Amino acid sequence: MSFKNKTALVTGGAGFIGSHVVDRLLQEGAEKVTIFDNFIGGQFNNIKHLIGNPRVQLIVGDVRDFDAVKPLVQESDFIFHEAASKLVASLKNPRIDLGTNIIGTFNILEASRDSDARIVQISTGSVFGSSDKPMNEEHVKNPTTLYGISKLTGEKYGLFYAKEFGVKASVLRYFHVFGPRQDYHGEAGVINIFLSKILNGKAPIINSGGEQIRCFTYVSDDVDATLLLAQKKEAIGQAYNVASKTRMSINELAKIIIDKYADKPITPEQGDTRQGENLKPIPDTTKIEKLGWKEKVSFEEGLENTKKWIEQDMKDTGNSF
Ligand SMILES: NC(=O)c1ccc[n+]([C@@H]2O[C@H](COP(=O)([O-])OP(=O)(O)OC[C@H]3O[C@@H](n4cnc5c(N)ncnc54)[C@H](O)[C@@H]3O)[C@@H](O)[C@H]2O)c1
Repeated sequence: MSFKNKTALVTGGAGFIGSHVVDRLLQEGAEKVTIFDNFIGGQFNNIKHLIGNPRVQLIVGDVRDFDAVKPLVQESDFIFHEAASKLVASLKNPRIDLGTNIIGTFNILEASRDSDARIVQISTGSVFGSSDKPMNEEHVKNPTTLYGISKLTGEKYGLFYAKEFGVKASVLRYFHVFGPRQDYHGEAGVINIFLSKILNGKAPIINSGGEQIRCFTYVSDDVDATLLLAQKKEAIGQAYNVASKTRMSINELAKIIIDKYADKPITPEQGDTRQGENLKPIPDTTKIEKLGWKEKVSFEEGLENTKKWIEQDMKDTGNSF
């Protein structure tokens, strides 16, 4: 199945990953792509290159609003549900987290009951807890954050709607995504935050001791997985993990970036311990590899692309850290 001459809805399409999904759908020949975003985390900068493109429709709206979501779902061949309240936001505002990640996801699924649309519902490795071994899709889910709880609930709705109501939904769990357009002023997206600090000659702050392991995945590899799932019939009603096989601790990450890009000696600072920090959220990705996904961008290449983007963005916007 191709995206040529098809219509797609990307919730959270002004966000970091959603905006890359939009770009790829246009490259793949989609006839119309609707970006639906309330801009709570999204940036106009991520989509400014699309303004005026007759194949792109931008709607400022909220996935918690069923009446706004329903007509968009019904006119779409594909739905990429990226909109979410994120990890750090979930603790600051549990009501928004529950509303967006559970009610918002429910609205997309409920609106799809009488449609034929293929849905890729984005979830997260935070639905698992920590484990010493790589976790496959069936591994026990013990989320340690409100974000993990709300995303897991959304997943369960998606898989139930697929099984019982024939909704053509698949669940895709990203882990530690990085790349251009990831906000480097926020509290998540550690690679971009460290890069921007170090490029400005400042010390990165390492939270929770720094021995926690992450498998950093370059954004275009996650976009590949997202579009792949939408094209595979056998993925309907299934959940998949997707992540790089490159694994490192936050302490190792800081050292790599300092060694590569600092122009003077920098010693990282120790920060707070974060609530619910997963020490080893490492997935097994065999299932999505069997479907045809393959990691294409090495960590080094992804890091270099991201560094170049941050330098350019700091120049364009006058931002630093
Ligand atoms: N970045 C990562 O490392 C990572 C890891 C695992 C899972 N994910 C998942 O990937 C998806 C995209 O995340 P991202 O990193 O691009 O984050 P992001 O914050 O850049 O994008 C999320 C987008 O959703 C929008 N949004 C939030 N609440 C909304 C609402 N109620 N209605 C409409 N739009 C709303 C935001 O404005 C933002 O543009 C999310 O579902 C997230 O849970 C991301």
